[in-house]
Amino acid sequence: MSLTDRECLAISQARAMLRESGVWDLEEDLSCLIDRYIERVDKDRAIEEFMLAVQERCNRIPLGHIVGMVEFDEMPLVVGSGVFIPRPHSKVIHKWLETRAVLRPGASVLDLCAGSGAIGLAIARRRPDLKVTCVEFDEIAVQYLKRNIDRLACKGIRVNYLQADIRDEQAFTRFTHQVGLIVANPPYVPQSQELLPEWSDHHPQASVYSGVDGLELIRQIISRANQLLSREGWLVIEHGEEQAQVVRELFEQSQLTNVQTVIDKEASDATGSSVMTIGCRSR
Ligand SMILES: C[S@@+](CC[C@H](N)C(=O)[O-])C[C@H]1O[C@@H](n2cnc3c(N)ncnc32)[C@H](O)[C@@H]1O
Repeated sequence: MSLTDRECLAISQARAMLRESGVWDLEEDLSCLIDRYIERVDKDRAIEEFMLAVQERCNRIPLGHIVGMVEFDEMPLVVGSGVFIPRPHSKVIHKWLETRAVLRPGASVLDLCAGSGAIGLAIARRRPDLKVTCVEFDEIAVQYLKRNIDRLACKGIRVNYLQADIRDEQAFTRFTHQVGLIVANPPYVPQSQELLPEWSDHHPQASVYSGVDGLELIRQIISRANQLLSREGWLVIEHGEEQAQVVRELFEQSQLTNVQTVIDKEASDATGSSVMTIGCRSR
């Protein structure tokens, strides 16, 4: 297959970068990456790999886990087995941020339950003036989170990460009353609820389920928000549509004001509605 001038230039830049980084099997790695991303020399292998992937999808392995990549808010994110695949539903948070949220430059933002980092990274992409920290407790998810943070730093998207359990008050003391916005897409499915196999069998349980009523972690996040939000700081949590009223009550019991639930039909799909509740700390 003949290569274009642009492809040849990219390959020679790649060769120089790999040499500089100390990769020991430079030509072998480069040829594998060219084969995977620029050309497909062996067409028989391409079809064989395609059919293996289709078979995996028929076994209801999530698409992102098969292809190792998902596009979220115009960012290519690395994902795979062991991490939650970001869903377009979460874009409801970014739409709200663009149109409604008043956040001063330099404000701290926490993405609690960050997984691969989709929500926090998308906030940092849209608002490079904010200081975003992604919080995640799971070892495997943190590996993907770190990779995505490093990859997107090359595009000027800057995010920090903190490996911590939201239930651990001590892990967050440095953020006490310092945070302008907390966002979270937590696990919120009740333990006994039946789901499609993509989620019930092929996602980590801790990324999907949260106690008998699905609200265990949401309660923890609201309590953490009390500790961390600055005056007029915002809390935004995604949850299930049928949980809307009880989540609003939990916000209000926690002295959050301007509480409202937003359902975004555009970002909803056959797997569920895109729903979030928002509240503000007034004192
Ligand atoms: C529904 S996933 C969302 C991931 C990401 N925000 C997204 O939208 O793609 C929930 C994430 O919360 C994490 N998580 C669950 N319990 C947690 C806890 N107690 N502390 C910190 N993270 C937790 C899970 O490991 C999982 O990555």
